[in-house]
Amino acid sequence: MTTPQHPDDFLRLLRMRSAAEDGIFRVDEERLAVFDPEAARRISAANWHRFVMHDRLVDMVRRRRSPEVRWSQVRSAWLTQLHALATPEQHGRLIERMAQIMDARLGRDVDLTMLSQDVAVRSLLPLALSGLTTGEADLVRRDLEMKLLRLVSPDPGSTWHHLRFVAVQIRSGLVVRRVLRQRARGRRGREPDLADPIVDLLPALGMDRALDVVTAVLTAIGGPPGTAAASVLYEFARRPEWQRRLADELGAVDPVAFRTAPPDAAPVTHRFVKEVLRLWSPPLLLVRRSTVPFDLGKTRLAPGDWYLLSPHMIHRDDRVWKRPDLFDPDRFLPGAPHGPADRTCYVPFGWAPKKCIGANIAIVQLMALCHLLCTRYRLTVHRPDEVTMALRFAPVPENFRGELAFR
Ligand code: HEM
Repeated sequence: MTTPQHPDDFLRLLRMRSAAEDGIFRVDEERLAVFDPEAARRISAANWHRFVMHDRLVDMVRRRRSPEVRWSQVRSAWLTQLHALATPEQHGRLIERMAQIMDARLGRDVDLTMLSQDVAVRSLLPLALSGLTTGEADLVRRDLEMKLLRLVSPDPGSTWHHLRFVAVQIRSGLVVRRVLRQRARGRRGREPDLADPIVDLLPALGMDRALDVVTAVLTAIGGPPGTAAASVLYEFARRPEWQRRLADELGAVDPVAFRTAPPDAAPVTHRFVKEVLRLWSPPLLLVRRSTVPFDLGKTRLAPGDWYLLSPHMIHRDDRVWKRPDLFDPDRFLPGAPHGPADRTCYVPFGWAPKKCIGANIAIVQLMALCHLLCTRYRLTVHRPDEVTMALRFAPVPENFRGELAFR
């Protein structure tokens, strides 16, 4: 089972989608594409309705059955923690971390895609896992960087690279295990992060499942936030008229105010970020395995069958959006004729009950990035004509080099 990541593979899917009468079609013998908005919503709801985490490997080795843990328990622990973390102080610190990382690259010719990635991941990491020593944090970051490079690079890399990747992944997993164990035993302080509620679930989860859960958050912050930030930079750099509109709005706004009601605090910036996420939704494809039988009208999925979902395909479908390829944040104004037909058409954060838990913080972060670009820095893109958007695991700006300076 391979995930199509290569641009040719994704372009083939785009062609198949245009030829299909609706958004549901067989990609090959193994995979069904479910790119129709309502079908994607229904299949996600049915598939994960009572999703339970198993500990198959350990159960097999120990010849026992571990206690059932519902995924909804894990999600509710995360969401409670995120709610507690949504304070002005925490958001202020997130924005400070973003600015520190950008300040450190001032006046240098940098790869703006990698810079965006760094800004997003390094500033979010303490939210996922904090209180690490410098060595531990470096290792976890290196693991996330290597995972991302494998996803964005068209080159599969040598066997040596692969071995290094696996070694770093194992060592980073050991760091997570150590942190969870030491917090549970009181040898390390509890921290206000997304790993912390998992310490309380350790007796039910066991260490292997707990590691999977923390790794899920780390992987989630390691990919989409950085590519989304790069796409914000990409559209910002290409559109002087929107730079002006954002600057007019953001000059008088404290970014900490994005925390409570982003559309009220900075409506133009909020629409800009929403439109970037519509056009350039990461990841391009979600590969899922059905857990229940599912009837899609003209075809059926049996438990164990693979299917593909894609916010990107839905956002670019002219059957559900008017002029989908046009960049126009004002389509999100109430009553705009080319706006979303209904809520199922705009899904940058996926579908309930597996919808992204970090959606709010992600929007705050991207709006804060716009704020920094309008109020603190001046962005210069070198050779703008050479910048292109490549479709890899996510849309990724390529040949995107430039420089930041203080205003
Ligand atoms: C622009 C930034 C982001 C985008 C576009 C994004 C997008 C997504 C998408 C499409 C999914 C899959 C949903 C599904 O399966 O239906 C997802 C899941 C997830 N995201 Fe995000 N995400 C972003 C930022 C974040 C952040 C900042 C966090 C953490 C604070 C986060 C944590 C997660 C987690 C833990 C899941 C798995 C949820 C589950 O399996 O129940 N994401 N995200």
